[in-house]
Amino acid sequence: MKTTAVRLYGKKDLRLESFELPDIKDDEILAKVVCDSLCMSSYKAATQGSDHKRIPNEVDKNPIIIGHEFAGELMKVGSKWADQFKAGDKFSIQPALNYEKGPVGILSAPGYSYTQIGGDATYVIIPGEVMEQDCLLPYKGAGFYPASLSEPLSCVIGAMHANYHTTPGSYVHKMEIVDKGKMAILAGVGPMGLAAVNYVLHRDDRRPSLLVVTDVDQARLDRAASLYTTEFAASRGIELIYLNTAGLADPVAGLKELSGGEGYNDVFVFAPVRPVVEQADAILAFDGCLNFFAGPSDPKFSAMFNFYNVHYAYTHVVGTSGGN
Ligand SMILES: NC(=O)c1ccc[n+]([C@@H]2O[C@H](COP(=O)([O-])OP(=O)(O)OC[C@H]3O[C@@H](n4cnc5c(N)ncnc54)[C@H](O)[C@@H]3O)[C@@H](O)[C@H]2O)c1
Repeated sequence: MKTTAVRLYGKKDLRLESFELPDIKDDEILAKVVCDSLCMSSYKAATQGSDHKRIPNEVDKNPIIIGHEFAGELMKVGSKWADQFKAGDKFSIQPALNYEKGPVGILSAPGYSYTQIGGDATYVIIPGEVMEQDCLLPYKGAGFYPASLSEPLSCVIGAMHANYHTTPGSYVHKMEIVDKGKMAILAGVGPMGLAAVNYVLHRDDRRPSLLVVTDVDQARLDRAASLYTTEFAASRGIELIYLNTAGLADPVAGLKELSGGEGYNDVFVFAPVRPVVEQADAILAFDGCLNFFAGPSDPKFSAMFNFYNVHYAYTHVVGTSGGN
């Protein structure tokens, strides 16, 4: 079967090529890709080449297929999976396989690490580990793009689940954001920030009482405010405030004031920008959790974190890459 794919050979070296896929093995599945949405992280991968943690060193000789938010139709199912999947089924993929034996170990993922599977291809071979890790997801909805977009949404959902809080003296981490707490999403009106706002507003099991969303791009803030209105948020019991921090002389003071002076229980950072990380640290409440969602390109990316507050105010930081 011939496929046409965008393959990465190294830093800023993407090539659109047609090549022959081998016959599938018993534990593999041949699939047609219909839809692949584009992620900022693919741009990062294309820029970094084999310096990227998920991309194998020998990518110049064995190019990987780029794209990890994809959906399509199964074409031919290897005998090992014939009782679970069949040709014609619609599918999506969870690319964060968490599979230690993959090409680059635990970080291996379609779209970064594999030569025969990735979203920017007409046909792909889904390797056995995708099914073994329960990462081939049957999709029965209309169209294909909602299935592609389930991947970035899973990243946002995973990030919210990864936050934790503590009770002094108990030494038990309570997972999740604080219900009826105060939340800030900083640099939050890019596509991923919008996905987070969408999830926070629609969740039924827990939600903050205050959600402040910042950015420095007014056009993006205006668009966000028209998509996710303060009125809709209020109907869900959430006071939603959009804030352009570029116009503030002291953004930390402005953000603190909006929280009633207490700071925020859950703060999410959606841009790998040092001043934004330091702003997030400075607005944490007692036991506040900073979630660094953004993915930096610079392996030495770092920022100041107030360790006085780590000690006396129980502030802490988490980060997640991908969903599950
Ligand atoms: N953790 C994960 O699983 C995961 C998954 C997908 C993407 N990401 C990462 O999430 C991040 C956001 O993705 P995106 O597609 O929304 O990116 P984006 O660049 O479109 O959005 C970032 C936003 O940050 C704003 N910003 C930049 N500098 C700022 C500053 N100093 N103060 C306030 N706002 C500022 C920008 O105006 C922009 O709206 C990226 O770093 C991406 O790599 C992480």
